Amino acid sequence: MDLLLKGGWVVTAARVEQADVAIEGEKIAAVGPDLAAPGAVVRDVTGKYILPGAIDAHVHYQMPIGDLLTADDWFTGTRLAACGGVTTVIDYAEPASPAESLTEALNKRLEEARDQACVDFGLHQVVMPGQEEDEGELRAVVAKGVTSFKVFTTYAQRLSLAAIGRLLRQARRLGALVTVHCEDHEIVTAKREELIAAGRTDPAYHALSRPATAEVKAIRDVITLAGEAGAPVYIVHVSTGGGAEAIAAARSKGQQVYGETCPHYLLLTESQYTGPASRLFLMCPPLRTAADNDLLWRHLAGGALQVVATDHCSYSREQKAAGTAFYDTPSGVPGTETLLPLLYSYGVRNGWLTLPQLVGVLAANPARLFGLYPRKGSLKPGSDADVVIFDPRRQVTLTAASLHSAAGYTVFEGFNLQGYPEATYLRGRLIYDKGTFLGRAGQGQFLPGRIAAT
Ligand code: URP
Ligand code: ZN
Ligand code: ZN
Ligand code: ZN
Repeated sequence: MDLLLKGGWVVTAARVEQADVAIEGEKIAAVGPDLAAPGAVVRDVTGKYILPGAIDAHVHYQMPIGDLLTADDWFTGTRLAACGGVTTVIDYAEPASPAESLTEALNKRLEEARDQACVDFGLHQVVMPGQEEDEGELRAVVAKGVTSFKVFTTYAQRLSLAAIGRLLRQARRLGALVTVHCEDHEIVTAKREELIAAGRTDPAYHALSRPATAEVKAIRDVITLAGEAGAPVYIVHVSTGGGAEAIAAARSKGQQVYGETCPHYLLLTESQYTGPASRLFLMCPPLRTAADNDLLWRHLAGGALQVVATDHCSYSREQKAAGTAFYDTPSGVPGTETLLPLLYSYGVRNGWLTLPQLVGVLAANPARLFGLYPRKGSLKPGSDADVVIFDPRRQVTLTAASLHSAAGYTVFEGFNLQGYPEATYLRGRLIYDKGTFLGRAGQGQFLPGRIAAT
């Protein structure tokens, strides 16, 4: 044995138990009471939780909007992940236009990440209009280990509902999972034009420009299409209680619909848009109401939503400041580093989630949905030794200065936390310890997802 974590509480999606964890090379070797491991380095973790490394299943590194790239690249983005107890991230391979093939886009993205990533990573394949018809290309990316597709119902790269239906049928045949950004394009476009005509273009109008009805309608439409196709579907960044209710209703009828939400939709409201820093809170879909926060927590606890991911998309303070209106301010916020401690403090300590549910929504569920389980999201013998030592007593007030994003701000500034990651291991290697990053660029590996056997 190489490493023995002694005296902690092991938390998995199934249970909490007092047990030691033995690590051999890159793998978990044993979990149990009073393990002996002659020759191993022993770390006393009495009073701490031992969690599987968290997975942030929705991130965007060096993502372009026009001429701008997000501040965090593959190196800084995955370094801050390590500092937050996140050992796997899933980003996107997005063609520059419908003329670029899926495999070209995928190879470019893999090339960008190579030698840069500090934690392991997977990719979702963005499918542009027309590309849903090309079974050969879809099959090729699945063969390379990209087992989830991503489409949009709005933005320039939007697919029509008919095209999303076609992709769902292709994905069903391939065993892949379609993930969808849901906002109804007609509703969003009409609102935007109405606000512009009325001269209401300040970033403060962002939430009004993308109303809850747009998300709920798009989610309902996509659920209907998935039902018709007999395919599972995954709704990214659900921001509305109504969207969560639509997912819950479909699931209660036996449909395989999955939902993801983000810490900002659970913890912040649209009141941020009336403040002086409204641009910093501008993301799509926008922040909603306290009633939405509450319903999202309820549906996360009840299981209708299975995943919390961050949509980490870190346009910097300076990039945001250049925006003059809600429609030209770069959209997106940083989040990966605060994912686990926020969900612990505001989810577990506030009584919404149990510790096993925390591990479910941050590790086991995304690992299962994206073909990484039990290599990731688990502490079973044979799983990758991706481990977080979590100190439930450590008190932290979040400030941008103490975090590692190049964005230069956090939307959770001033949030008081109790409980924080103390150390992070990636495949047995200590990459973060008590405030210090110890990893290096290039140690993160691409994780091919596996299609569930049917
Ligand atoms: O505003 C956001 N969320 N930017 C990232 C792209 C997306 O829609 O997820
Ligand atoms: Zn060894
Ligand atoms: Zn999106
Ligand atoms: Zn996103």
